[in-house]
Amino acid sequence: MKRPVLRLLFPALCGSLGLALHAQTPASDSDVPELALLMGDLQRLTHKLALSADAGNAELAAFYLHESQEQLRKIQREAPEYENLPIAVLIDRMAHPAYAPLQEAIAAKDQERMVAGLDLIVQSCNACHVATQHGFIRITRGTEVNPFNQSFAP
Ligand code: HEC
Repeated sequence: MKRPVLRLLFPALCGSLGLALHAQTPASDSDVPELALLMGDLQRLTHKLALSADAGNAELAAFYLHESQEQLRKIQREAPEYENLPIAVLIDRMAHPAYAPLQEAIAAKDQERMVAGLDLIVQSCNACHVATQHGFIRITRGTEVNPFNQSFAP
């Protein structure tokens, strides 16, 4: 085998070895980043929900409220337990009920109540982080600036 060929093959071999090792990672290890990723998606949806509520955009807030609830159900399906914590049960008890006041405020198209409802949801995020030994993850309203290339105006 000529050297240039080896030089080309070597990284490719290393790559497939890496893939093989990755595939052998036990299921419990690959579960570890999963809840964080799912939470990251929930965070983005919650942030957009906050910006919509803050702008008094009932139609857009209704969309992100629905998406957030779907994401919570996805978390319940995909990570019902995490490090021996009953995530799905806690979401049923702490997260889902927190969405009702915002839902009512959206139906009434009442911006002030929408923001109050949003605050209740953010509180439920943080209450569950405390309940699951992740109290250091503190969610805020985050409506001072719009970091997205998207308008939240009604
Ligand atoms: C069932 C309780 C529970 C609820 C409800 C909950 N979280 Fe979490 N959250 C967790 C746990 C546990 C972790 C740590 C996951 C890990 O260690 O991988 C976490 C991690 C996170 C993270 C860190 C991951 C990242 O991408 O930075 C963010 C952000 C987050 N949650 C946002 C939220 C938001 C926003 C809400 C509310 C809409 C929420 N969480 C509701 C339990 C919860």
